[in-house]
Amino acid sequence: MRRLLAIILVCALIAGIGVGCKAKTGVVNLGGIFPMTGASATFGASSKNGTAMAVEEFNTAGGAMVGGVKTTINYINEDDTASPEVGASAAHKLIDNDKVIGIIGAVMSKVSLAVAPIAQSAGVPEISPTSTNAKVTLVGDYIFRACFIDPFQGTVMANYAYNTLKVKTAAVLYDNGNDYNKGLAEFFKAGFEKIGGKVVAYEAFTDEEKTVDYKAQLTVIKAANPEFLYLPNYYGSAALQLKQAREMGLNVPAGGGDGWDSTKLVEIGGAAVEGGVFSNHFSKDDKSPKVQAFVAKYTTKYGEAPDALAALAYDAAGLFLDAFKTAGSIKGSDIRDAMKNTSFVGISGAYKFDENRDPIKSAVIIKIVNGQQTYLTTVNP
Ligand code: PHE
Repeated sequence: MRRLLAIILVCALIAGIGVGCKAKTGVVNLGGIFPMTGASATFGASSKNGTAMAVEEFNTAGGAMVGGVKTTINYINEDDTASPEVGASAAHKLIDNDKVIGIIGAVMSKVSLAVAPIAQSAGVPEISPTSTNAKVTLVGDYIFRACFIDPFQGTVMANYAYNTLKVKTAAVLYDNGNDYNKGLAEFFKAGFEKIGGKVVAYEAFTDEEKTVDYKAQLTVIKAANPEFLYLPNYYGSAALQLKQAREMGLNVPAGGGDGWDSTKLVEIGGAAVEGGVFSNHFSKDDKSPKVQAFVAKYTTKYGEAPDALAALAYDAAGLFLDAFKTAGSIKGSDIRDAMKNTSFVGISGAYKFDENRDPIKSAVIIKIVNGQQTYLTTVNP
């Protein structure tokens, strides 16, 4: 017993000066808040995978030095169930109980808008990989994002429809209970009309998680005889809307935003979504060696190719961890300052934040061809 105590004491002493036995190490918690269940569960799975992969690589590469102590990350993932209220509880749990040094999340703008005030008032940096509603980062100086914003992607699709598809009229069907869908609908309409197009029907519903029947709105839309159908909704409801539109004989080309990014879009929508075009953050078909190395590594690890949510979660977590390493501190304000000044180069491009902590990024346009996402073009801001 006394010998054991002596060994422990010697080890502790040596660890203190950083040689022999086991060097002193620390572990801190990092939180993730994503929709793991519900109608958009593929968003959660991809985001969790991307974040976990970045954390693993960070730990393997040695973590960060904090006050002379080698510090690695323990990642805690929470399910927001696509609900702002559940997301807010998750933020309280991560901050109050788990004492996280930062939060990666949420995916959906409506959830990020509920999480951000909590992170901001606690002084815990939050970076959303994919929330595109402009209001998210305006909550405060601890809130960042790793993606472009909706005024940009709405305009990108308006221009694509008018200039490339050569349609002069469009109809919009959107969820007015979600800041993302509502904002994107508005930006598409404004962009389309600015260049000479006309939005002939602008129809809304209230909760895409619960709605299954869009026939009433589609009847109004069909009567207006649009040449293009814009659906700025998440994949589950967009697929249903297209199925019902096609059943009603509304066969015009259709488009949407990043919310269409899931293999489930085709699984649910089948032939009805064929030919659909949408704006997105990333394409796995990008030929750059950096993207291809990421695609290969992710695919080996998780058994499926990464979508934009996986790539952006990987970038958001990578950027946060890089700032943590630069700061060499677990203090929220130190990490925030390092994030503000980042020049992190991610899979989806190089990061530089503007005064609202929004990065300037390009968009890609993807088309569903033979049931597969096919890269069409890149649009720079
Ligand atoms: N941009 C969406 C939002 O803000 C979330 C999303 C991003 C969904 C990327 C799919 C792909 O709500």
